[in-house]
Amino acid sequence: MAREGIQRLVLTSRRGPGAPGAAELEAELVALGPSVELVACDVADPEALGALLDRLRREGPPLRAVFHSAGLVDDELIARLDPEQLRGPSLPKVGPAWQLHAATRDLELDAFVLYSSAAGTLAQIGQANYAAANAYLDALCQLRREAGLPGLSMAWGLWAGPSMATSVRAQLESQGVSAMEPAPAIAGLRRAVALGDAHVVLGAFDWAKVRFGGRGQLLAILQSEGVEAEEAAADSSFDLDALPRGERGPAIQAFVLDAVARTLRLSPEEADPKRSLTALGLDSMTSVELRDELRERGAFEVRLADLLRGVSVAELSEQLLAAYEGELDGDEVSEAPASPWLWCPAP
Ligand SMILES: NC(=O)c1ccc[n+]([C@@H]2O[C@H](COP(=O)([O-])OP(=O)(O)OC[C@H]3O[C@@H](n4cnc5c(N)ncnc54)[C@H](OP(=O)(O)O)[C@@H]3O)[C@@H](O)[C@H]2O)c1
Repeated sequence: MAREGIQRLVLTSRRGPGAPGAAELEAELVALGPSVELVACDVADPEALGALLDRLRREGPPLRAVFHSAGLVDDELIARLDPEQLRGPSLPKVGPAWQLHAATRDLELDAFVLYSSAAGTLAQIGQANYAAANAYLDALCQLRREAGLPGLSMAWGLWAGPSMATSVRAQLESQGVSAMEPAPAIAGLRRAVALGDAHVVLGAFDWAKVRFGGRGQLLAILQSEGVEAEEAAADSSFDLDALPRGERGPAIQAFVLDAVARTLRLSPEEADPKRSLTALGLDSMTSVELRDELRERGAFEVRLADLLRGVSVAELSEQLLAAYEGELDGDEVSEAPASPWLWCPAP
């Protein structure tokens, strides 16, 4: 923005000019042309934010763009979140974003950009509170666009360099989210502003590795949009009906083994069909992924608790075959589970 001829740049944070590196940043920006003001303002305090906005309105020049990027993370599994932690990441985002929206909706803005996160779309483990805060921003920009106002919820993946994501960088990278360097990230932001969409997710994702809970849904959206999602297309042709009876057992085992190997990121050598899934590394989170994989690609319904009870790929495959052929307990497969621990829809 400083490079693009704006006259006045007001940057806020709780520490304002007292933040480490603030003076250097100010000098760097002033050298590019605009007047720069660093303000200590807690945007989660409606009075402080209101007073700042009133002052800017009085002083001029007219406000032309709003960028909101305040945020914090406080990761915890959802079952362990206390009310304060649940609210924490929303405080710098939800109220302030609405206040900025309400205070500027009558102005002729060129841009209204909220820094959101891919976590709001991809459901990263341990980030339910952060995901909710960001999903609010995504929805707010939708509302603004529907009202004909500028609004972009820029849902970032992972940035390079020190940031709030530093502590989870290694974890994210192992899950297929690579860090973006500033130049391509800013180029992407420009493009997103020009696109006019309310919500854009921008990140460097390796879809073969991404393990977030929302992956299935996201790939489905990409496919429905006509975007190639190579992994989603893979193996969608699993069709037991087309196989002779004697070939179904090996086909199910190969299918289940592949699903387990993909879910647990195992090499073919590591994916031993005789070892229990838990010994191979299945846990409560990856069991959800495996259950979804079996359901989406194979139309098999398996209960999570049963996947975690020490069953191996070979045993699971036998049970699926038996359920498929309606042989378990001598019954046809029905609406109710034929087995105490798994069932599959009638072929
Ligand atoms: N870094 C990433 O990879 C990444 C990925 C996805 C999304 N994002 C989003 O991008 C935004 C910036 O992330 P970041 O990594 O740059 O974060 P960061 O390094 O922690 O910086 C956050 C900034 O927000 C300010 N801030 C926090 N609470 C505030 C409040 N209540 N009022 C005013 N300022 C406040 C902080 O300054 P003070 O402490 O002085 O207030 C700090 O300058 C966040 O909204 C984040 O959700 C980042």
